Amino acid sequence: MTTTAQPTGPLRHFLQFRDFTRDEIDYVLGRARLIKDRFKRYEPHHTLHDRTLAMVFEKASTRTRVSFEAGMYQMGGSVINLTAGDSQLGRSEPIEDTARVVSRMVDLVMIRTFEQTRLERFASHSRVPVINGLTNEYHPCQILADIFTFLEHRGPIQGRTVAWVGDANNMAYTWLQAAEMLDFTVHVSCPAGYTLDADRIQGIDARHLKVFDRPEDACRGAHLVTTDVWTSMGYEDENEARRKAFADWCVDAKMMALADKEALFMHCLPAHRGEEVTADVIDGAQSVVWDEAENRLHVQKALMEFLVLGRQG
Ligand code: CP
Repeated sequence: MTTTAQPTGPLRHFLQFRDFTRDEIDYVLGRARLIKDRFKRYEPHHTLHDRTLAMVFEKASTRTRVSFEAGMYQMGGSVINLTAGDSQLGRSEPIEDTARVVSRMVDLVMIRTFEQTRLERFASHSRVPVINGLTNEYHPCQILADIFTFLEHRGPIQGRTVAWVGDANNMAYTWLQAAEMLDFTVHVSCPAGYTLDADRIQGIDARHLKVFDRPEDACRGAHLVTTDVWTSMGYEDENEARRKAFADWCVDAKMMALADKEALFMHCLPAHRGEEVTADVIDGAQSVVWDEAENRLHVQKALMEFLVLGRQG
Protein backbone atom coordinates (compact mmCIF):
# COMPACT_ATOMS: atom_id res chain seq x y z
CA MET A 1 0.00 0.00 0.00
CA THR A 2 1.30 3.43 -0.86
CA THR A 3 1.74 5.79 2.05
CA THR A 4 1.99 9.20 0.45
CA ALA A 5 -1.44 10.29 1.65
CA GLN A 6 -1.77 13.38 3.82
CA PRO A 7 -1.79 12.91 7.59
CA THR A 8 -5.25 12.22 8.97
CA GLY A 9 -5.13 15.15 11.46
CA PRO A 10 -4.82 18.83 10.62
CA LEU A 11 -1.67 19.69 8.66
CA ARG A 12 1.06 20.89 11.04
CA HIS A 13 4.46 22.40 10.37
CA PHE A 14 7.49 23.13 12.58
CA LEU A 15 8.77 26.36 11.08
CA GLN A 16 9.67 28.01 14.37
CA PHE A 17 9.77 26.86 17.97
CA ARG A 18 6.51 28.53 18.92
CA ASP A 19 4.59 26.64 16.22
CA PHE A 20 4.14 24.00 18.93
CA THR A 21 2.47 24.41 22.30
CA ARG A 22 4.36 23.74 25.49
CA ASP A 23 2.43 20.51 25.86
CA GLU A 24 3.49 19.43 22.36
CA ILE A 25 7.15 20.29 23.03
CA ASP A 26 6.98 18.27 26.25
CA TYR A 27 5.41 15.37 24.34
CA VAL A 28 8.15 15.43 21.65
CA LEU A 29 10.90 15.58 24.29
CA GLY A 30 9.34 12.64 26.16
CA ARG A 31 8.96 10.66 22.97
CA ALA A 32 12.59 11.42 22.06
CA ARG A 33 13.59 9.87 25.41
CA LEU A 34 11.74 6.67 24.53
CA ILE A 35 13.11 6.61 20.98
CA LYS A 36 16.68 7.20 22.17
CA ASP A 37 16.42 4.47 24.80
CA ARG A 38 15.15 2.01 22.19
CA PHE A 39 17.93 3.05 19.79
CA LYS A 40 20.54 2.38 22.49
CA ARG A 41 19.07 -1.08 23.07
CA TYR A 42 19.14 -1.79 19.28
CA GLU A 43 15.36 -2.19 19.31
CA PRO A 44 13.63 -1.41 16.01
CA HIS A 45 11.34 1.62 15.97
CA HIS A 46 9.74 1.52 12.53
CA THR A 47 6.80 3.84 13.05
CA LEU A 48 7.44 5.64 9.73
CA HIS A 49 7.65 2.44 7.69
CA ASP A 50 7.22 3.18 3.97
CA ARG A 51 7.07 6.93 4.55
CA THR A 52 9.28 9.29 2.57
CA LEU A 53 11.09 12.43 3.70
CA ALA A 54 12.29 14.99 1.16
CA MET A 55 15.19 17.15 2.35
CA VAL A 56 15.90 20.43 0.59
CA PHE A 57 19.27 22.00 1.31
CA GLU A 58 19.98 25.48 0.02
CA LYS A 59 22.86 25.81 2.51
CA ALA A 60 25.56 23.35 3.59
CA SER A 61 25.04 20.85 6.43
CA THR A 62 26.61 17.91 8.20
CA ARG A 63 24.53 17.29 11.35
CA THR A 64 21.14 18.20 9.95
CA ARG A 65 21.61 16.06 6.86
CA VAL A 66 22.94 13.01 8.69
CA SER A 67 20.47 13.18 11.57
CA PHE A 68 17.37 13.53 9.42
CA GLU A 69 18.53 10.96 6.88
CA ALA A 70 19.69 8.37 9.43
CA GLY A 71 16.60 9.04 11.55
CA MET A 72 14.17 8.43 8.72
CA TYR A 73 15.89 5.19 7.68
CA GLN A 74 15.98 4.02 11.30
CA MET A 75 12.21 4.53 11.48
CA GLY A 76 11.65 2.38 8.40
CA GLY A 77 11.23 5.20 5.91
CA SER A 78 13.24 6.55 3.02
CA VAL A 79 14.80 9.88 2.11
CA ILE A 80 15.29 12.03 -0.98
CA ASN A 81 17.92 14.76 -0.81
CA LEU A 82 17.65 17.84 -3.01
CA THR A 83 20.02 20.79 -3.21
CA ALA A 84 19.78 24.01 -5.19
CA GLY A 85 22.64 22.72 -7.34
CA ASP A 86 21.04 19.44 -8.35
CA SER A 87 17.37 20.44 -8.59
CA GLN A 88 15.36 22.96 -10.59
CA LEU A 89 15.41 25.26 -7.56
CA GLY A 90 18.86 26.29 -8.76
CA ARG A 91 17.36 27.18 -12.14
CA SER A 92 14.74 29.53 -10.69
CA GLU A 93 11.75 27.19 -10.43
CA PRO A 94 9.45 29.02 -7.98
CA ILE A 95 9.55 27.63 -4.46
CA GLU A 96 5.74 27.44 -4.52
CA ASP A 97 5.80 25.14 -7.56
CA THR A 98 8.49 22.98 -5.96
CA ALA A 99 6.34 22.70 -2.84
CA ARG A 100 3.23 21.72 -4.81
CA VAL A 101 5.09 18.99 -6.69
CA VAL A 102 7.33 17.55 -3.97
CA SER A 103 4.54 17.43 -1.39
CA ARG A 104 2.38 15.28 -3.71
CA MET A 105 5.10 12.62 -3.68
CA VAL A 106 6.38 12.46 -0.11
CA ASP A 107 5.02 12.43 3.45
CA LEU A 108 7.23 15.08 5.02
CA VAL A 109 9.67 17.81 3.97
CA MET A 110 12.65 19.31 5.79
CA ILE A 111 14.14 22.51 4.37
CA ARG A 112 17.32 24.44 5.11
CA THR A 113 17.17 27.79 3.38
CA PHE A 114 17.80 31.52 3.69
CA GLU A 115 14.86 33.76 4.62
CA GLN A 116 12.12 32.44 6.91
CA THR A 117 9.63 33.84 4.37
CA ARG A 118 10.98 31.43 1.76
CA LEU A 119 10.33 28.52 4.11
CA GLU A 120 6.86 29.88 4.87
CA ARG A 121 6.09 30.17 1.12
CA PHE A 122 7.04 26.53 0.69
CA ALA A 123 4.93 25.46 3.67
CA SER A 124 1.88 27.39 2.54
CA HIS A 125 1.89 25.44 -0.74
CA SER A 126 2.71 22.04 0.77
CA ARG A 127 0.27 19.19 1.29
CA VAL A 128 2.53 17.62 3.93
CA PRO A 129 4.27 18.82 7.11
CA VAL A 130 7.34 21.01 6.66
CA ILE A 131 10.23 21.26 9.14
CA ASN A 132 12.66 24.16 9.44
CA GLY A 133 16.16 22.69 9.15
CA LEU A 134 17.63 26.22 9.67
CA THR A 135 16.81 29.61 8.23
CA ASN A 136 18.45 32.99 8.70
CA GLU A 137 15.90 33.68 11.45
CA TYR A 138 15.44 30.40 13.37
CA HIS A 139 16.93 26.96 14.07
CA PRO A 140 14.18 25.20 16.07
CA CYS A 141 15.40 21.60 15.65
CA GLN A 142 18.73 22.57 17.20
CA ILE A 143 17.09 24.20 20.22
CA LEU A 144 14.86 21.15 20.66
CA ALA A 145 18.03 19.02 20.81
CA ASP A 146 19.74 21.49 23.16
CA ILE A 147 16.84 21.47 25.60
CA PHE A 148 16.69 17.67 25.47
CA THR A 149 20.42 17.60 26.21
CA PHE A 150 20.02 19.96 29.16
CA LEU A 151 17.18 17.80 30.47
CA GLU A 152 19.37 14.69 30.24
CA HIS A 153 22.24 16.26 32.14
CA ARG A 154 20.60 18.68 34.55
CA GLY A 155 16.82 18.13 34.57
CA PRO A 156 14.09 20.61 33.54
CA ILE A 157 15.25 23.92 32.11
CA GLN A 158 12.36 25.85 33.66
CA GLY A 159 13.66 28.53 36.02
CA ARG A 160 17.27 28.11 34.85
CA THR A 161 19.52 30.64 33.12
CA VAL A 162 21.08 30.25 29.68
CA ALA A 163 23.90 32.62 28.69
CA TRP A 164 24.06 33.40 24.98
CA VAL A 165 27.46 34.86 24.06
CA GLY A 166 28.10 36.15 20.55
CA ASP A 167 26.02 36.81 17.49
CA ALA A 168 22.32 37.71 17.67
CA ASN A 169 21.58 35.02 15.13
CA ASN A 170 18.93 32.37 14.41
CA MET A 171 20.01 30.37 17.48
CA ALA A 172 19.68 33.36 19.81
CA TYR A 173 16.16 34.17 18.62
CA THR A 174 15.09 30.53 18.88
CA TRP A 175 16.45 30.35 22.44
CA LEU A 176 14.26 33.34 23.23
CA GLN A 177 11.15 31.66 21.84
CA ALA A 178 11.94 28.59 23.92
CA ALA A 179 12.53 30.71 27.04
CA GLU A 180 9.11 32.31 26.77
CA MET A 181 7.44 28.95 26.25
CA LEU A 182 9.35 26.88 28.83
CA ASP A 183 9.86 29.73 31.30
CA PHE A 184 13.60 30.17 31.68
CA THR A 185 15.90 33.18 31.34
CA VAL A 186 18.32 33.95 28.53
CA HIS A 187 21.23 36.29 29.27
CA VAL A 188 22.35 37.73 25.94
CA SER A 189 25.62 39.54 25.25
CA CYS A 190 26.52 40.57 21.71
CA PRO A 191 29.11 43.05 20.42
CA ALA A 192 27.99 46.55 19.44
CA GLY A 193 26.58 46.50 15.94
CA TYR A 194 25.51 42.84 16.21
CA THR A 195 22.92 43.11 18.98
CA LEU A 196 19.34 41.81 19.06
CA ASP A 197 16.86 43.61 16.82
CA ALA A 198 14.57 45.72 19.00
CA ASP A 199 11.52 44.87 16.88
CA ARG A 200 12.10 41.15 17.26
CA ILE A 201 12.41 41.22 21.03
CA GLN A 202 9.53 43.60 21.67
CA GLY A 203 7.27 42.18 24.35
CA ILE A 204 9.76 39.68 25.79
CA ASP A 205 9.78 40.32 29.53
CA ALA A 206 12.80 40.50 31.85
CA ARG A 207 12.05 37.05 33.27
CA HIS A 208 12.97 35.60 29.88
CA LEU A 209 15.56 38.03 28.48
CA LYS A 210 18.32 40.08 30.08
CA VAL A 211 20.80 41.92 27.87
CA PHE A 212 24.41 42.53 28.96
CA ASP A 213 27.14 44.64 27.37
CA ARG A 214 29.90 42.38 28.66
CA PRO A 215 29.90 38.63 27.99
CA GLU A 216 31.34 37.96 31.48
CA ASP A 217 28.25 39.53 33.04
CA ALA A 218 25.97 37.37 30.89
CA CYS A 219 27.78 34.22 32.07
CA ARG A 220 27.58 35.07 35.77
CA GLY A 221 25.48 32.41 37.52
CA ALA A 222 24.31 30.79 34.26
CA HIS A 223 23.40 27.09 34.22
CA LEU A 224 24.25 26.81 30.53
CA VAL A 225 26.72 28.86 28.48
CA THR A 226 26.29 28.63 24.75
CA THR A 227 27.57 30.33 21.63
CA ASP A 228 27.84 29.94 17.86
CA VAL A 229 30.19 30.91 15.07
CA TRP A 230 30.83 34.61 14.63
CA THR A 231 29.75 34.48 10.99
CA SER A 232 26.70 32.42 10.12
CA MET A 233 26.10 30.97 6.67
CA GLY A 234 25.05 33.67 4.24
CA TYR A 235 27.00 36.46 6.00
CA GLU A 236 30.50 35.53 4.81
CA ASP A 237 31.09 39.00 3.31
CA GLU A 238 31.14 40.36 6.87
CA ASN A 239 33.78 37.88 8.04
CA GLU A 240 36.68 40.29 8.56
CA ALA A 241 34.60 42.96 10.29
CA ARG A 242 33.06 40.32 12.54
CA ARG A 243 36.44 38.90 13.57
CA LYS A 244 37.39 42.30 14.96
CA ALA A 245 34.01 43.08 16.55
CA PHE A 246 33.64 39.67 18.24
CA ALA A 247 37.20 39.33 19.58
CA ASP A 248 36.08 39.69 23.24
CA TRP A 249 33.12 37.33 22.76
CA CYS A 250 35.14 34.13 22.93
CA VAL A 251 33.84 31.74 25.59
CA ASP A 252 36.87 30.83 27.66
CA ALA A 253 37.65 29.24 31.03
CA LYS A 254 37.30 32.61 32.80
CA MET A 255 33.76 33.03 31.54
CA MET A 256 32.90 29.44 32.47
CA ALA A 257 34.29 30.07 35.96
CA LEU A 258 31.77 32.91 36.42
CA ALA A 259 28.88 30.59 35.57
CA ASP A 260 27.22 28.21 38.02
CA LYS A 261 29.69 25.56 39.19
CA GLU A 262 27.57 22.88 37.47
CA ALA A 263 27.17 24.91 34.26
CA LEU A 264 27.19 23.12 30.93
CA PHE A 265 28.70 24.39 27.69
CA MET A 266 26.89 23.89 24.37
CA HIS A 267 27.63 24.83 20.76
CA CYS A 268 25.44 23.78 17.86
CA LEU A 269 28.56 23.15 15.73
CA PRO A 270 30.50 23.47 13.52
CA ALA A 271 32.84 25.30 15.90
CA HIS A 272 35.90 27.44 15.30
CA ARG A 273 38.23 26.81 18.22
CA GLY A 274 40.08 30.00 19.13
CA GLU A 275 37.29 32.22 17.80
CA GLU A 276 33.90 31.92 19.55
CA VAL A 277 35.19 29.31 22.04
CA THR A 278 38.55 28.17 23.30
CA ALA A 279 39.64 24.57 22.79
CA ASP A 280 39.88 23.93 26.54
CA VAL A 281 36.18 24.85 26.96
CA ILE A 282 34.67 23.00 24.00
CA ASP A 283 36.86 19.95 24.68
CA GLY A 284 36.59 20.27 28.45
CA ALA A 285 34.57 18.57 31.17
CA GLN A 286 31.64 21.00 31.09
CA SER A 287 31.10 20.64 27.35
CA VAL A 288 28.23 18.43 26.15
CA VAL A 289 28.53 19.30 22.46
CA TRP A 290 28.76 15.68 21.25
CA ASP A 291 25.63 14.66 23.16
CA GLU A 292 23.99 17.79 21.80
CA ALA A 293 24.86 16.80 18.22
CA GLU A 294 23.73 13.20 18.72
CA ASN A 295 20.45 14.34 20.20
CA ARG A 296 19.50 15.99 16.91
CA LEU A 297 18.88 12.43 15.74
CA HIS A 298 16.59 11.44 18.58
CA VAL A 299 14.51 14.62 18.88
CA GLN A 300 14.00 14.85 15.14
CA LYS A 301 12.80 11.24 14.98
CA ALA A 302 10.21 12.16 17.60
CA LEU A 303 9.38 15.35 15.72
CA MET A 304 8.92 13.59 12.37
CA GLU A 305 6.78 10.88 13.94
CA PHE A 306 4.59 13.50 15.65
CA LEU A 307 4.09 15.52 12.47
CA VAL A 308 3.23 12.49 10.34
CA LEU A 309 1.31 10.31 12.79
CA GLY A 310 0.33 12.55 15.71
CA ARG A 311 0.72 11.37 19.31
CA GLN A 312 1.59 7.73 19.81
CA GLY A 313 0.93 5.48 22.75
N1 CP B 1 24.11 22.52 13.96
C1 CP B 1 23.84 22.28 12.69
O1 CP B 1 22.71 22.59 12.21
O2 CP B 1 24.80 21.61 12.01
P1 CP B 1 24.91 21.47 10.44
O3 CP B 1 25.04 22.87 9.86
O4 CP B 1 26.13 20.63 10.19
O5 CP B 1 23.66 20.81 9.92
